[in-house]
Amino acid sequence: MRVFVAGGSGVLGRRLVPLLVARGHQVTATTTSADKLGALEALGARAVVMDGLDALSVGEAVAAAEPNVIVHQMTGISLAHAGKPDLKHFDRWSVPTIRLRTEGTDHLLAAAEASGVPHVVAQGYANWNGIREGGWVKTEDDPLDLHEGTAAYPAMAALRHVEDTVVKAGGAVLRYGGFYGPGATDDQLVLVRKRQFPLVGDGTGYASWIHLDDAATATALAVEQKAKGVFNIVDDEPAPESEWLPYLARCAGAKKPMRLPKWLARLLAGEVVVTMMTEGRGFSNAKAKRELGWEPRYPSWRQGFKEGLA
Ligand SMILES: NC(=O)c1ccc[n+]([C@@H]2O[C@H](COP(=O)([O-])OP(=O)(O)OC[C@H]3O[C@@H](n4cnc5c(N)ncnc54)[C@H](OP(=O)(O)O)[C@@H]3O)[C@@H](O)[C@H]2O)c1
Repeated sequence: MRVFVAGGSGVLGRRLVPLLVARGHQVTATTTSADKLGALEALGARAVVMDGLDALSVGEAVAAAEPNVIVHQMTGISLAHAGKPDLKHFDRWSVPTIRLRTEGTDHLLAAAEASGVPHVVAQGYANWNGIREGGWVKTEDDPLDLHEGTAAYPAMAALRHVEDTVVKAGGAVLRYGGFYGPGATDDQLVLVRKRQFPLVGDGTGYASWIHLDDAATATALAVEQKAKGVFNIVDDEPAPESEWLPYLARCAGAKKPMRLPKWLARLLAGEVVVTMMTEGRGFSNAKAKRELGWEPRYPSWRQGFKEGLA
């Protein structure tokens, strides 16, 4: 197939592009920076500069590639695009990603229609953002939590936009868990090693993780099978912060994380972080296994953290 990967230079794109090439596909991958074209070509892709927020740029890049499928992996969370991570002001820090998930998605869907591209696969999110009621583990039938009235709302609403529009267009949205693997947790590990990534309250909030290579495999399957609908792409073991964070610290050779009471964490890091760490909900991968035939190589973050950080 001819696959167009918008955001091919990101942490996931850099694992996905060579996998698609190895599976026999012809890949066009995008970046906003001409400096990265050589690195994308070295992964086996045809590389192009594209601004996902510019309808003309997107339309031209898609038309030139004549793809059978568009894969949307554009986010703006790196230092270069968003500045220093600022979870306290989640709404401000998320603006580049919010725009790529709203305007960027619309531009890709419009380009798909204009160029007759029949299928779109887009990045969603299933880390800690399941609806905060009932059990700790959610399926695709449970709604995501929009966190109305908080600083997380605009980013959550943007994810809803991706799901509504891409599914309506007959595509698939892959709700990835928290990424780990080459380059994906570098920022978090710096904080863990400095003991600046605390356990909040009793660390009861759940999260789902996924190794980048397992996320890439699921994406290749969704592309090849022309999947439709929403899929949670997470590992087999959603777990509370009180389990995964001390384990991550041990694997990274760091001291035990500090424990912060909720009121202090709220003051220092903001409400979104407290909610994430104490009330977050994780996700089930049963649908992706059943319908895509996907089997993660790292069924648990326990094995993945250990191998990746040893
Ligand atoms: N733990 C997690 O779940 C997780 C997940 C992802 C990332 N991270 C962290 O975030 C850091 C950055 O990761 P990243 O590079 O993948 O994220 P990113 O900077 O958000 O970039 C993702 C992709 O989107 C592209 N992009 C950004 N703005 C664009 C625009 N206006 N138009 C078109 N494409 C655009 C980027 O291209 P260019 O930058 O090449 O222009 C890149 O290909 C990593 O170092 C990692 O520590 C953590």
